[in-house]
Amino acid sequence: MELTGKVAVVTGGNSGIGKAIVLALAAKGATIVIDWVADEQATEALEDQVRALGDQVIGVEADVSKVTDLERLVASAVTAFGRVDVMVNNAGIETRTSVLDTTEAQYDRVLAINLKSAFFGTQLAARQMIAQGGGGRIINVTSVHEDWPMPGNTAYCVSKGGMRMLTRTAGVELAAHGILVVGVGPGAVATPINASTLGDPAALAKLNAAIPLGRMAQPEEIGSVVAFLASDAASYLAATTIFADGGLMQSSPGL
Ligand SMILES: NC(=O)c1ccc[n+]([C@@H]2O[C@H](COP(=O)([O-])OP(=O)(O)OC[C@H]3O[C@@H](n4cnc5c(N)ncnc54)[C@H](O)[C@@H]3O)[C@@H](O)[C@H]2O)c1
Repeated sequence: MELTGKVAVVTGGNSGIGKAIVLALAAKGATIVIDWVADEQATEALEDQVRALGDQVIGVEADVSKVTDLERLVASAVTAFGRVDVMVNNAGIETRTSVLDTTEAQYDRVLAINLKSAFFGTQLAARQMIAQGGGGRIINVTSVHEDWPMPGNTAYCVSKGGMRMLTRTAGVELAAHGILVVGVGPGAVATPINASTLGDPAALAKLNAAIPLGRMAQPEEIGSVVAFLASDAASYLAATTIFADGGLMQSSPGL
């Protein structure tokens, strides 16, 4: 299979888009390291699903907002499987607060979990990839909001905008090492992060109507993009973002 022998680390890998990424990479034969902070049972159930696909897997409890935890995450992958070939910086949160009412604690938490984690996840994975040789892939799960304002979710947009420049700058810096850094920018995806919209039929209908494809994405539709980006088929993509948004960014400014 395409990713047989490759070791992939997925942060926030036991839920939503991360879980779909884990399963899409495992379906292509990758060995999987699932980073998680909440819901050990969900992690164990996902590990069973990966093993059922015939792949090796470990779960590592690590808070990606702490660099020491990220160091332990990458070290655990190397201890268990000898290398890291694919690093997916996926973990993320949002506060849905405006620039006027976001607290310092909310700002720090969103920026630490979404952006600082991706910066140091990129750094630590790249150091390992350079040490082992042979290049690698670093895939940052950003958002349409790396580029597109979302009033009322300001810290989130700041974090995703930072991931946009992390992807571009690290992508340029690391290309010489054969490390391809690419972003995936989902639009609206049916995951727990959107629980409030999914539970509000009027809000959901309004959102679906604004999306040219007429519906939110399923997490698997993002997982498949990440699996493509991890494969040889994506060998000439670097320092850019692939948007998987059903056409949303081109049609609904200010949603
Ligand atoms: N769902 C969407 O519409 C959408 C759209 C664009 C981008 N995204 C991005 O996709 C990524 C995944 O989100 P999702 O929709 O699957 O939501 P989700 O809530 O299902 O998953 C988020 C994951 O991150 C983990 N996480 C949170 N804090 C963490 C920490 N400190 N350390 C490690 N893991 C932590 C959670 O436990 C969970 O596993 C996020 O970066 C999000 O911004 C989501």
